[in-house]
Amino acid sequence: MKGNYRGVAITGSGGAKPSQVLQNQDLSQIVDTSDEWIRTRTGIRQRHLAKPSESLSELAARAGKEAIAMAGITPDQMDLIILATSTPDDLFGSGSKIQNLLGANKAVAFDLTAACSGFVFGLVTASQFIRTGVYQNVLLIGADILSRWVDWSDRSTCVLFGDGAGAVVCQRTEEKDNLLGFEICSDGSQNACLNAPYCPTPATLTSEVSVSKGTYEAITMNGREVYRFAVAKVPEVIEKVLFRAQLSVEQVDWLILHQANQRIMDAVANRLTIPPEKIISNVASYGNTSAASIPLALNEAIRQGKIKSGDVIATSGFGAGLTWGAAIFQWR
Ligand code: UT7
Repeated sequence: MKGNYRGVAITGSGGAKPSQVLQNQDLSQIVDTSDEWIRTRTGIRQRHLAKPSESLSELAARAGKEAIAMAGITPDQMDLIILATSTPDDLFGSGSKIQNLLGANKAVAFDLTAACSGFVFGLVTASQFIRTGVYQNVLLIGADILSRWVDWSDRSTCVLFGDGAGAVVCQRTEEKDNLLGFEICSDGSQNACLNAPYCPTPATLTSEVSVSKGTYEAITMNGREVYRFAVAKVPEVIEKVLFRAQLSVEQVDWLILHQANQRIMDAVANRLTIPPEKIISNVASYGNTSAASIPLALNEAIRQGKIKSGDVIATSGFGAGLTWGAAIFQWR
């Protein structure tokens, strides 16, 4: 089907992390916790945290710049920038700011919010624009600074999260489509399991009209419920996508899950009978960086030379919404 065939190729990756690091031992001075508890329950040893002077846009742009360079194209060749984030610098979104920081003058940019599933939802969204022939070059960035929205006195959540950004370039190809299958899902009935809700303060404008002003509350999570949900839904959705892609589990070279908890990654791999050496994990160094976690882990594995051309990667994100999804693709 050469000529006008519109397949998706993932041709570049990038990552960016704030320079500040908080170790587990440091956390035990802030809340009643220990390095031992955090390591054994989550696999996390440290996390990178953005300084007050750092911005989500700047972090995301750094990751995007790296990905564009690896793809061997220039920012002005980008048609679309998708920023997957729950923590933009601005309520109206940060995509356009990143477009400007990158000098991607031709690109349209928008934000996509699907919490920790944001990267997978973004990959699927990017591929639709490519497959329909609308766009040739799409930059997808997953970036979050959850440290801004964590309650630093709540030990059940504050030990889990870190900040970062990861990016990929998706390009139209006339060769084989490298996005082999995907599925994305939502279940709003479980929305209360993981939230950072708007916290209104009523304000009366006239005797008949009142509105609310306010801010967002810190993150709250029912960890056990989210854990149960992830271990049940992630293997199921990956199996479904493998079936659609007509691939067997043995044909998966690498499993890159949302980096929330090493125990979740191990349990999912075990359920799918994927051997531990195929799991790509950097949760020990970054904690849970939400939409950034998959592209950060992918980028590191590519740059370390672990992931090679043609390798089949099964990826799955899960989190607030609740949302979850999986995508299987081949590296360029
Ligand atoms: O990115 C979004 C997706 N999020 C996730 O995937 C998170 C999924 N959930 C998890 O990863 C795990 O549920 C956690 C890591 C959050 C918690 O691990 P757990 O093994 O499910 O612990 P738990 O919530 O059942 O708590 C066990 C105990 C409790 O004490 P009691 O009630 O047994 O006395 C907690 O109070 O551990 C206590 N605890 C802590 N102790 C020391 C909770 N947090 C801490 C802490 N340090 N930081």
